[in-house]
Amino acid sequence: MKPNLFLRPPKIEDAIDLAREANDPAVAAGLRDYFPSPYSVDDALRFIETIDAKTGPQTDFLITVDGEVAGVMGVFLGQDVYRYNAELGYWLGKRFWGKGITTAAIAWTIDYAWRTLNVERLYAEVFSSNIGSQRVLEKNGLVEEFRLEGVVVKDSKRLDMICYGIRKPTDR
Ligand SMILES: CC(C)(COP(=O)(O)OP(=O)(O)OC[C@H]1O[C@@H](n2cnc3c(N)ncnc32)[C@H](O)[C@@H]1OP(=O)(O)O)[C@@H](O)C(=O)NCCC(=O)NCCS
Repeated sequence: MKPNLFLRPPKIEDAIDLAREANDPAVAAGLRDYFPSPYSVDDALRFIETIDAKTGPQTDFLITVDGEVAGVMGVFLGQDVYRYNAELGYWLGKRFWGKGITTAAIAWTIDYAWRTLNVERLYAEVFSSNIGSQRVLEKNGLVEEFRLEGVVVKDSKRLDMICYGIRKPTDR
């Protein structure tokens, strides 16, 4: 069954639900160490306030499923000579895994980026251990652009970083 998915900007009132889904070592395991673990309601409030303070186009979204907060999708716009590039970052609460939700959320975000943001390339940097994330990117047409061996140290393990990317179609 297709997930009933909706991406929207987060609100302060989402902080408790967001922290509940984020506060899980299994979620943090796929992410950079700046993602707090454990993850408190204060962390969620800080995250939402940072997004609220941003100017420019909306680039940070809550992933909701049947109206419930399920995770986060962010598009980090490049600067300077990288201004036409943007990095995708995402996570989903564990109880929502394996239902095609991130695959659908990335599809939505790619379409949003091409239509709304002034970017020509989207990319994501994935740990070599994170097969699920590699899969959701591949399912959305991102391809491995390069791999840097042993550059990541996560939870005391040395891992490769795989950069996946996709270019904006030129006929749009
Ligand atoms: C990685 C993550 C985003 C995947 O989200 P998800 O919604 O469960 O992924 P989907 O259900 O859309 O899965 C898409 C495909 O990946 C596969 N997949 C998902 N997780 C997997 C895993 N851990 N191992 C192997 N395959 C996996 C699914 O089976 C599916 O493949 P299929 O369509 O061929 O059956 C989710 O596990 C997560 O949030 N992890 C923690 C945070 C994280 O790693 N973020 C990404 C940082 S780069």
